[in-house]
Amino acid sequence: MANRGNFSGRIGFILAAAGSAVGLGNIWKFPYEAGENGGAAFLVIYLFLTFLFCYPVMVGEIAIGRKVGLDAYSSYRKLGGKGWGLLGLFGILCGIMILSFYNVVAGWAFGYFLEISFGSLLDEPSFSDFFSRYVVDFWDNLIFSFCFMFITAFIVVKGVQRGIEAASRIMMPALLIILVLLIVYSLTLPNAMAGVRFYVLPDLTEIKLSTLYSAMGQAFFSLSLGMGALITYGSYLDKKQNILSAAASITVVDMSVAFLAGLLIFPLVFSQGQSPEQGPALVFVVLPGIFKTMGPILGKIIGGGFFLLLCFAALTSTISLLEVPVAFFVDKMKVNRKLITWILAMSVFVIGLPSMLSLGAVDSFSSLPFYQGRSTLDFVSELFSDISLPLGGCLMSIFIATRWGTADLSEELATGNPNYKGSFLEAYINVIIKYVIPVVLGIFSVMIIIEKFFGLEKLFGN
Ligand code: TRP
Repeated sequence: MANRGNFSGRIGFILAAAGSAVGLGNIWKFPYEAGENGGAAFLVIYLFLTFLFCYPVMVGEIAIGRKVGLDAYSSYRKLGGKGWGLLGLFGILCGIMILSFYNVVAGWAFGYFLEISFGSLLDEPSFSDFFSRYVVDFWDNLIFSFCFMFITAFIVVKGVQRGIEAASRIMMPALLIILVLLIVYSLTLPNAMAGVRFYVLPDLTEIKLSTLYSAMGQAFFSLSLGMGALITYGSYLDKKQNILSAAASITVVDMSVAFLAGLLIFPLVFSQGQSPEQGPALVFVVLPGIFKTMGPILGKIIGGGFFLLLCFAALTSTISLLEVPVAFFVDKMKVNRKLITWILAMSVFVIGLPSMLSLGAVDSFSSLPFYQGRSTLDFVSELFSDISLPLGGCLMSIFIATRWGTADLSEELATGNPNYKGSFLEAYINVIIKYVIPVVLGIFSVMIIIEKFFGLEKLFGN
């Protein structure tokens, strides 16, 4: 397997996996989900779910990948037989579909970088009008999301170490630094503290069933779990590494970036007198506001810089999404890596076109009759991430519980961590994977499917 490539070591793996985790999910999706679901109430549930479910699932995925050393499909297939291979294929399909809409939003971020740095976005009288016009602009969207997919494929072609790892090494720390600087600045703005209160003081009466769904979907999405991305990355990890501590670092980094993004956005929302419940437009409407207050030159530099770094964060995520199907075709079908990368990237771009045109550009994509009149982008993102990722995590746990066995899981985890066996952590992970996740996530998955397609909340009336 020498020709598959490897990460250069512990830090390389953590950076790449954290690069996969940290992306638009943290900076674009997390704040608007929190804003729509009561702020601090969402934050509390999100943190709780991440520790309870997501950390064990992450450990399980990486262990499966490293054990077998192949793509998601081949890993399940080898450990579990043909039937379980289907779970790997399902994950690969989810990866393709998630990438298809993710790339559209990444295209917006890229467009915003250009419009702020080199255009006159910051002179606009209303950023919310600008955003509404922006998402229906056919050519801008087409060109920028195409560029994004092109760059993604370009890096994936270069392979694990030179491409993925090198990219993460520089971009991640830079993003963190600019985020912290912006937070410090935003906290000095008038009424910023109202935003901080909204974000950190939970009002538990705000917790509804939908808060739970959104937080669950968001936690899996943000950590890149439930579809085999970390099986794939785990397959490039060497046996000396400690999976448990690597997974802990990835989880903490991802949570911290999401937390910081909220800490930046909500003070801005309140100081600009806006509503936190604006959905996907939120960061694109609120962030330019802070850059405008910095004056024309500094605003362009910092604002452009921020969106550029957001693009980098998105890029380390799109890379991981594309890597999943690429690894499958290379490992399983023995196809030439370069060729299949380009074919897949261009196909995913085309698959994403309906999502791209679903924010008002084309009516039939913007209002789906079978999905309560909502957009294709909502449909694809909810079906393949909010629903499928927790379901994928649940099935992975059932796979470990009933097929591979927690004893083998422990064996793999003890490789690189000699104290693991007999530890409290081992007991915790085994109980969660064997009993808690299959039951709780199983029930949850059924409920969310009913809710999304038929509106469960109508039945319960809240
Ligand atoms: N986690 C990334 C984000 O927050 C998105 C992402 C990358 C992803 N790879 C994934 C989501 C795999 C689910 C599965 O932006």
